Amino acid sequence: MTDIDFYIEGIQQLPAIIERGDEAREKFAEIFMEFVQLQHLYESAIEVVRTYLNILDSEFNIKFQRNPIHNIESRLKSSDSIIEKLRRKNIPISPENARKNLLDIAGIRVTCYYISDIYVIAEMLSQRDDFTVIKQKDYIKSPKPSGYRSYHLIINVPVYLAAKKTFAPVEIQIRTIAMDFWASLEHQLKYKPSSAITPEISEELKQCAERISETDLQMQKIYMQINDLD
Ligand code: GTP
Ligand code: MG
Repeated sequence: MTDIDFYIEGIQQLPAIIERGDEAREKFAEIFMEFVQLQHLYESAIEVVRTYLNILDSEFNIKFQRNPIHNIESRLKSSDSIIEKLRRKNIPISPENARKNLLDIAGIRVTCYYISDIYVIAEMLSQRDDFTVIKQKDYIKSPKPSGYRSYHLIINVPVYLAAKKTFAPVEIQIRTIAMDFWASLEHQLKYKPSSAITPEISEELKQCAERISETDLQMQKIYMQINDLD
């Protein structure tokens, strides 16, 4: 039995591990602590990005009397999902391998009002000299075959812990409220256990995404006209 099998058994049946005596208890506690520290690191990285986004949003408000950000959501991949994803990729399960191989343990979703706001936020995140862009995908200029639109960034963020400065990657999805509306419903429909997505339904969903995108562009145009920006 590997350490990780032992750990998984431990989270599922902790009383059995406790019964096995001091050595088993200590070993479980040790691996458990490694996962706790990993989660703390990624939670802290999320806070670093969230704080910066809030600062940008309020600065924008001071300058232009308007907030570009409608909402910020974040999530941390659970240790169960981390284990499941490593297993799926055939990578030996350990906190160290999770750090090396998974770039979406920490996730932030930023919803903006207008398409132009997305690019302002993406640019601000990318140009910070202590942030390193690991991956960048513009699914607005090149939507996914499903019709999905969003701007994705994976950024390596510095985290100052008590004893050292370290880095953790954060996946940031930036989209308009309209793009978020589509992605939320499409995700719900697709991942419903009973869902049967036929090619016709996929096509319909894609058409919905296109209509929503046209509306986004029209709203952007109206905003530019009203503010004499065109
Ligand atoms: P993962 O291994 O799934 O993270 O894929 P990836 O590394 O190739 O990243 P990608 O940029 O394709 O997608 C990452 C995330 O974007 C997903 O976890 C979803 O949250 C979102 N996403 C991508 N495609 C779709 C889509 O067709 N519909 C919806 N609703 N969300 C999507
Ligand atoms: Mg993912």
